[in-house]
Amino acid sequence: MIQYNETIPVIVLNEEGDIIMMRNLDSLRIENPAYVEKSLARMREHSAPIEINLGEDQKQYLYYDRSTILTNLTYYPVIQLSVILVFLLVAYYAFSTSRKAEQNQVWVGLSKETAHQLGTPISSLMAWMEILKEKLREEKFVGELEKDVHRLEKITDRFSKIGAKPKLRDENLNDVVESAVAYLQTRSSNKITFEVITTDTPIVLPLNVLLFEWVLENICKNAMDAIEGEGAIKVSVIDNNKFVFIDIGDNGKGIPRRKHKTIFKPGFTTKERGWGLGLSLTKRIVEEYHGGKVFVANSEPGKGTTIRIILNRV
Ligand SMILES: Nc1ncnc2c1ncn2[C@@H]1O[C@H](COP(=O)(O)OP(=O)(O)OP(=O)(O)O)[C@@H](O)[C@H]1O
Ligand SMILES: [Mg+2]
Repeated sequence: MIQYNETIPVIVLNEEGDIIMMRNLDSLRIENPAYVEKSLARMREHSAPIEINLGEDQKQYLYYDRSTILTNLTYYPVIQLSVILVFLLVAYYAFSTSRKAEQNQVWVGLSKETAHQLGTPISSLMAWMEILKEKLREEKFVGELEKDVHRLEKITDRFSKIGAKPKLRDENLNDVVESAVAYLQTRSSNKITFEVITTDTPIVLPLNVLLFEWVLENICKNAMDAIEGEGAIKVSVIDNNKFVFIDIGDNGKGIPRRKHKTIFKPGFTTKERGWGLGLSLTKRIVEEYHGGKVFVANSEPGKGTTIRIILNRV
């Protein structure tokens, strides 16, 4: 019976505990005593041996394990499930990357088109500006008008820059932060105080100033919107030699914990006249174009918010 058995691993011992016969063990490892020892230990654990009575008080003990078919059968469903799982993961990954690529194309196309469309009326406005300047030299409003036209030009330039991978140049981050905040300050109500803390030594990093100013404007504008009535905005640049942190803190209405990630998704807004694009643009500029990170460092409803940008120090 033992001879005919092709699947059940078997070891037969005599009364002294010596191995008399082995069947269906791994033929390649059977020479290895440690393997045999381990197999026997497993069989001992599996169940009590079958006693074979040979008469004349001679006994043998047959130890056995589960048959290989039975062992395999318990593993098959697990293997099958894993294969299905891997397949689903691959399919999901392919789907999400193709969707991302599509979204990217829409972004890029829309930005380029906007820049292109705005380009023509703006160059014509510039030409008119020159004529106005000639004719109305004394009028103060002409200067203001000119500033606005330049601003429009800048915005168009930003759109054209975001449409393609922009060039980065070594710039002093402290200067960029200071000038962006100074610009916003002139545009905000007197009820909001601004504080800028920069480092004593310049922090020179590869930046696209045009786009990075946009980032700071978006975050600061959100901070301004979050403040109802009086409030304070504090922008601090912190350099720890490996990374640079730019913290933008406000004491506005705060963001509930579960929304800390959602606010960076395109289209998410809680404002009546918001587009929900500011922070998704910000994320794209910081993470994709500057290799940094931007996230909610801290926010408590009713107390305020700190948004943190991290840039690598090179
Ligand atoms: N500092 C902040 N304090 C409180 N809520 C904030 C803050 N920053 C962002 N949020 C929340 O995140 C949402 C998304 O911000 P995001 O800048 O992307 O869009 P938006 O400001 O609503 O519109 P826009 O496209 O004009 O910027 C805001 O509507 C607001 O609810
Ligand atoms: Mg915004």
